[in-house]
Amino acid sequence: MIDVGGKQVLITGAARGIGYAFARAFVDAGARVMIADRDLERAKKSAAELGDACFATYLDVSDQASIQSAVEKTVNVLGHIDVLINNAAIFTAAPIVEIDRSDYEKCFSINVAGTLFMMQAVAQCMIERGSGGKIINMASQAGRRGEALVGVYCASKAAVISLTQSAGLNLIEHGINVNAIAPGVVDGEHWDGVDALFAKYENKPLGQKKKEVGESVPFGRMGTAEDLTGMALFLASSASDYVVAQTYNVDGGNWMS
Ligand SMILES: NC(=O)c1ccc[n+]([C@@H]2O[C@H](COP(=O)([O-])OP(=O)(O)OC[C@H]3O[C@@H](n4cnc5c(N)ncnc54)[C@H](O)[C@@H]3O)[C@@H](O)[C@H]2O)c1
Repeated sequence: MIDVGGKQVLITGAARGIGYAFARAFVDAGARVMIADRDLERAKKSAAELGDACFATYLDVSDQASIQSAVEKTVNVLGHIDVLINNAAIFTAAPIVEIDRSDYEKCFSINVAGTLFMMQAVAQCMIERGSGGKIINMASQAGRRGEALVGVYCASKAAVISLTQSAGLNLIEHGINVNAIAPGVVDGEHWDGVDALFAKYENKPLGQKKKEVGESVPFGRMGTAEDLTGMALFLASSASDYVVAQTYNVDGGNWMS
């Protein structure tokens, strides 16, 4: 029942990390995937690794012209878009009294406006085509509650959960399901950067924060990108047709809601 064979899938920020694991899982399941990332060289390399069913394009989700051109290119290459995964995001951390306004604006422009205007551009194509579709937004456990040093990123992911609810309610009349995944702590290059920020602000040796968060997960370890692919495939398939405007925690038991 979880069948995404033949689906045309656009994944933002898929040059590396979780997005790349999604691209691999969808290609392995018989879908065709466009990796859209502001790191075009890495996107091309990642697409080449995944074979003939995977393509790459430049995209900066904080730039409206770039959104329009990446969506147009995706439609030209794939024919149409069945599934959008809004995965591109950045992380930032600082104590409240040190948060820099430009850092806040950059984070919201990518994590929140990027998610919203990607949904808008792709939903317009889906509505025009009249065959519905699936949109999956990447939220976070950070969007479920605040964190002392992570105010801006937490707020941006709370906004993603809220936008998922509003867009989910608004677009289901067109047969477009909008849902989100809230990962917990997922090891990879992203978390190397998070660890370095905590080393700075909490005066810890490098690697210490990762060790602590891994040990605190009820499942017993940090997540891997591959731990998230099952939920993404489910939300992209017809098995989730009756699932609307939800955010699913895939976090080893870190958060219950
Ligand atoms: N890793 C975790 O622990 C974790 C936890 C919760 C949620 N998430 C979320 O999962 C998603 C993927 O996380 P990840 O760990 O793979 O991150 P990552 O930093 O490894 O990858 C992010 C990708 O997004 C791209 N990107 C950044 N800004 C962009 C922009 N403006 N336009 C287009 N592409 C851009 C980067 O080039 C990179 O390829 C993000 O939304 C993140 O917030 C991650």
